[in-house]
Amino acid sequence: MKGEWVTEILRTGTAEDLERAVEVAVGALRGGEVVGLPTETVYGLAADGLNEEAVAKIFEVKERPYFDPLILHLPGVEWLERLVEMPEASEALVGRLVKRFWPGPLTMVLPRRAVVPDLVTAGRETVAVRMSGQAIFRAVVEGFGGPLAAPSANRFGRISPTSAEDVRSELGGRMGWVVDGGATEYGVESTIVAVEGEGMRILRAGPIGVEELREEGEVVEWNGERSGGGGGGEEAPGQTSSHYAPRTRLILVDRASEVSEEERVGAGLLGWKRGGEEEERGFGAVEWLSEAGDLREVAAGLFAKMRRLDGVGLRRIYAERVEAVGIGVAVMDRLNRAAFGEEKRG
Ligand code: TXA
Ligand code: MG
Repeated sequence: MKGEWVTEILRTGTAEDLERAVEVAVGALRGGEVVGLPTETVYGLAADGLNEEAVAKIFEVKERPYFDPLILHLPGVEWLERLVEMPEASEALVGRLVKRFWPGPLTMVLPRRAVVPDLVTAGRETVAVRMSGQAIFRAVVEGFGGPLAAPSANRFGRISPTSAEDVRSELGGRMGWVVDGGATEYGVESTIVAVEGEGMRILRAGPIGVEELREEGEVVEWNGERSGGGGGGEEAPGQTSSHYAPRTRLILVDRASEVSEEERVGAGLLGWKRGGEEEERGFGAVEWLSEAGDLREVAAGLFAKMRRLDGVGLRRIYAERVEAVGIGVAVMDRLNRAAFGEEKRG
């Protein structure tokens, strides 16, 4: 598998580039190959979602365990009823969620129909579905004309890619093409809700916060503060506690000022809101997640900045906690997982 391919990044800067990129991507997908594609959340590794052999390549390229099911990305809302056996009790809620959040960063888990391959659902009776609003993704999925299975385009357990270069550094040599869509808008993976009857369970925190979901229906078992948790109770099966792990040890602190002079030597700082000289002094490398504390900005840059710090040979990374509201819950969820197993002062 390794080194079989020369991975090409397909540029989309001009109308001609874009047209060619979409053509190449659609052709590869029709041929049963995997392609890296941008979405509004993170880059995905896409394949024909109704073709078991194509789906199997996703698992192979990512080194993903087969117990971890995939999300199907739909070309249009009409596909929902073809893939999902809609419970009568859930129809009204799903209608409201679709109307408000699709296309966009919301994934719904619902009872599956038989047409969905077992490999996609990992043998479960439910399937995860979403509709991306990213323009290039839409052009490809509409051109393809069927659902695309697409997990984040990283090796299993690692940081999700938010640029085409990130995809190449994660999976280069294992696939032919990545379509370049620039940096992704949200920077963290979609919110996942299991729709059950007239209510929702949050399986993964994401760009759409519990506050917004509650405006459309009941959210059961929500516990946003739980370390690493999406919402209490069962989580999405692929989300092990140690997911999103950088290679460098990551330690959570409330503020950089807690880190002593000694501890700063050879260490990195992932700060949440730009501080001054005092905060930066003595660290080997510093990345600020936002200028003024805007949580959308924090989320958008999180993985790229974590990746950068991870690449410069630091002893450890100190990351400041952020406010767990809105998309901040998703940021804290990812940080907690990245720091899993580390004592605060480890
Ligand atoms: O933003 C996103 O959702 C990105 C982009 C590429 O669309 N995709 C993504 O996929 O994050 P992935 O495979 O990295 O994460 C999907 C999560 C996994 O934790 C998986 O276990 C869960 O969704 N999942 C998929 N199907 C499920 C099901 N039937 N029941 C419960 N969880 C499910
Ligand atoms: Mg993932």
